[in-house]
Amino acid sequence: MPLNDGQGRKHDYLRISVTDRCNLRCVYCMVEDGIEQTSHEAILSYEEIHQVVRAGAELGLSKIRVTGGEPLVRKNLVELIQLISGTPGIEDLSMTTNAHLLPRYAAALKEAGLNRVNISLDTLNPVKYRQVTRCGELKQAFEGIEAALENNLHPVKLNTVLMKGINDDEVLDFLDLVREKPLHIRFIEYMPIGSHDQNYDDHYLPLNFIEKTAAGAGLPLSPVPLPGGAGPAESYTIPGGQGTVGLIHPISKHFCSSCNRLRLTAEGTLKACLYWQDEKSVRPALGSKKALQDLIREVLGSKPVEHLMAADKECDSVQRDKMRGMSQTGG
Ligand code: 5AD
Ligand code: SF4
Repeated sequence: MPLNDGQGRKHDYLRISVTDRCNLRCVYCMVEDGIEQTSHEAILSYEEIHQVVRAGAELGLSKIRVTGGEPLVRKNLVELIQLISGTPGIEDLSMTTNAHLLPRYAAALKEAGLNRVNISLDTLNPVKYRQVTRCGELKQAFEGIEAALENNLHPVKLNTVLMKGINDDEVLDFLDLVREKPLHIRFIEYMPIGSHDQNYDDHYLPLNFIEKTAAGAGLPLSPVPLPGGAGPAESYTIPGGQGTVGLIHPISKHFCSSCNRLRLTAEGTLKACLYWQDEKSVRPALGSKKALQDLIREVLGSKPVEHLMAADKECDSVQRDKMRGMSQTGG
């Protein structure tokens, strides 16, 4: 029986945040001195995460993404990748990372069964990169991107959050990158999550800006169906592109009706929706596959029809301050 929610949406995808810690401090994700971090004892062990994966895989979860914070700052992450990739039923294992530690780990991750990576990269300018991430080095991120390409962590995708006044002047530079290298860029609409950016409203820009800018430069976006589906991203090719361009617009054109994902936070709570406060701890169910499976079904049963991000954005609701930040849910 497929794993359906109350609206009949089939779920086959689990995103696992393995830590809320990060070696960077991106302006939209964290406050400058970092968030209050969950203690080591309060996060799920690899064995506990594996229990949830095994129980979910039997129900029909076949795609797993490991996220953070920055997943590679957690010790021995390669061990977890090995556990997950060896689980019967898991067909696709990916990771979202800022790439700073990929030069060190890409080969071992591939060997352990990681299929592919998504790399956060919001600007191609080293000075701006340092401003956006507060402590990152663009050069190091690019070394990570090269390590991902060299180790066949394909398709290598880039996640770029479009921010007015910050990187909206770089759209054509990003498109050039996609023409030069087999990289798949996905522009993401800036979401009002966690409210770490006091100027969120000034920085938000809907993604039709990308389409207009590309067309204006003679690089019209042509829709492509990607094999296996690309999740919420609409994918396009551009003339001369080795890679593709994706647009993810959770606000201006939300994709809730085709949502197929569940989230497990580092602390061990299951969430059916990124932008919804409801969550349930898996801890009482650990040790019993049946209890874990019942819990997964229960959480899915109460999944909301759609999130209210667009409404919250307009009315400046206090709701967005109460949401877990992206470093805790992993986006
Ligand atoms: N809006 C849109 N995307 C975000 N990310 C983090 N915070 C936000 C936000 N407020 C993205 C990061 C990362 C992914 C996990 O989520 O760029 O690539
Ligand atoms: Fe770290 Fe990613 Fe958050 Fe940036 S967006 S601070 S890289 S978790």
